[in-house]
Amino acid sequence: MSFFSSVMLVIIISFVLSFLLLHYSWASPPKEMDQIPGSLGWPIVGESFSFLSNFSSPCGIYNFIYQRQQRYGKVFKTFVLGRFTVFMSGREASKILLTGKDGIVRLNLFYTGKQVLGPTSLLQTSGDAHKRLRRLIAEPLSVDGLKKYFQFMNRLAIETLDQWPGRTVFVLEEASTFTLKVIGNMTMSLEPTGEEQQKFRANFKLISSSFASLPLKIPGTAFYRGIKARDRMYAMLNSIIYNRRSGNSFQQDFLESLIVKHSKGADGEGSEDNKLTDTQLKDNILTLLVAGHDTTTSALTWLIKFLEENPAVLNKLRVEHLEIQANRKGGTNLTWSEVNNMPYTAKVINETLRRATVLPWFSRKASEDFEIDGYKIKKGWSINLDVVSIHHDPQVFPNPYKFDPSRFDAPIKPFSFLGFGSGPRMCPGMNLAKLEISIFIHHLLCRYKWTTLEKDDSVLPTLVRMPRNKYPIVAEPL
Ligand code: HEM
Repeated sequence: MSFFSSVMLVIIISFVLSFLLLHYSWASPPKEMDQIPGSLGWPIVGESFSFLSNFSSPCGIYNFIYQRQQRYGKVFKTFVLGRFTVFMSGREASKILLTGKDGIVRLNLFYTGKQVLGPTSLLQTSGDAHKRLRRLIAEPLSVDGLKKYFQFMNRLAIETLDQWPGRTVFVLEEASTFTLKVIGNMTMSLEPTGEEQQKFRANFKLISSSFASLPLKIPGTAFYRGIKARDRMYAMLNSIIYNRRSGNSFQQDFLESLIVKHSKGADGEGSEDNKLTDTQLKDNILTLLVAGHDTTTSALTWLIKFLEENPAVLNKLRVEHLEIQANRKGGTNLTWSEVNNMPYTAKVINETLRRATVLPWFSRKASEDFEIDGYKIKKGWSINLDVVSIHHDPQVFPNPYKFDPSRFDAPIKPFSFLGFGSGPRMCPGMNLAKLEISIFIHHLLCRYKWTTLEKDDSVLPTLVRMPRNKYPIVAEPL
């Protein structure tokens, strides 16, 4: 390690320690934690350094969980980033934590996420406020609500793929550009090219990187840059919202549907209860961008990678898409009814979400004392549901590391497959994600075959699991 890196490391460690000391009191660990296997690590920092170093390792953060499961079993305690945390797995834990019966748990964001997303984000509300906000947001994301964006996505997928032959394609980057253009257009009618799009993309990238950064709000840090980029994004949204509210501009997008439907009193739906303030609009547009971008980008990239690694599945999927193309009467382009009738594609998407488990755990905070699998959980503890283990349980998914979409031929036991979560926090963007992926895959399979330039299964040090090498390929016409 160079002198410069060593100095930087010492500075970073000092900052982390001061932050933890200032923000959290380690005090003495709760006595009730004695019953739970595991270690709380060192005073004040707990196991934070091991957590952070695993986060940047090739296997990603799941390594941290895996090592402790080998030592202590499926349920273990730890103290990371200022939180007393219990990791759990299994259907019982999944059911209790995700249905959140009687409001016993809340969503548990990292400090950085809370600061960036703002206090009225869907991810920071709970109880009735969460239900109300979700109802407003979920409506334009329903299958019917998405129909008006179909042509845009279809065109964009074709234009993106037009650029693929004859060069090295980093699938993760292409998927990221595609999904960001889709969500920018859907939410606020942002044009897919031009200066505004470039600024939007640059700001979004900074915001996104700040989530998994150290919580130090000082110039030069990723967190500081993320907060500044968020401010610029909000300034842009302020002017769009102002123009919409004053009637200077009208668009048929997500923002408009929230503004019009929920502020003008039409059909009795504009009651106080249905109105969204400008802050709520901004916080939640940003929430959709953040929650919907990396997840869909990652799923689309893993799916293309899994297909190449599993030629039998690839062939079967291609047959589905070539048949759709061959049966098309009049017109050459994919239609709305075709995209909603791709049964094998739906199974391939599910199997991708199971094998890749793009969100490796779901984090909750106990709002009261309760019990899971005989373990007493105390109010205030963090409980992380280990979804990777649930998705690789050989009792539910025999030969769990095999990529086999036929597992989804029959219904899966409740709380065993959590690709989009379950219960009141289940993903409201799942229809959009499936639509984007199905459209993209249709055009890819009907036009190209591809091979990878580098085999590598390691993952990026991000909260959402993504291939570290961005999955480089070369594509050529069929
Ligand atoms: C393949 C892509 C996607 C995957 C795998 C995915 C997965 C998930 C999962 C597992 C949850 C629940 C997390 C938990 O219970 O802690 C969730 C929640 C959420 N997702 Fe997605 N998601 C995807 C795409 C999207 C898209 C496209 C959007 C929006 C445009 C979106 C918006 C959200 C929001 C806002 C929540 C929080 C819901 C709440 O707290 O009530 N997601 N997602």
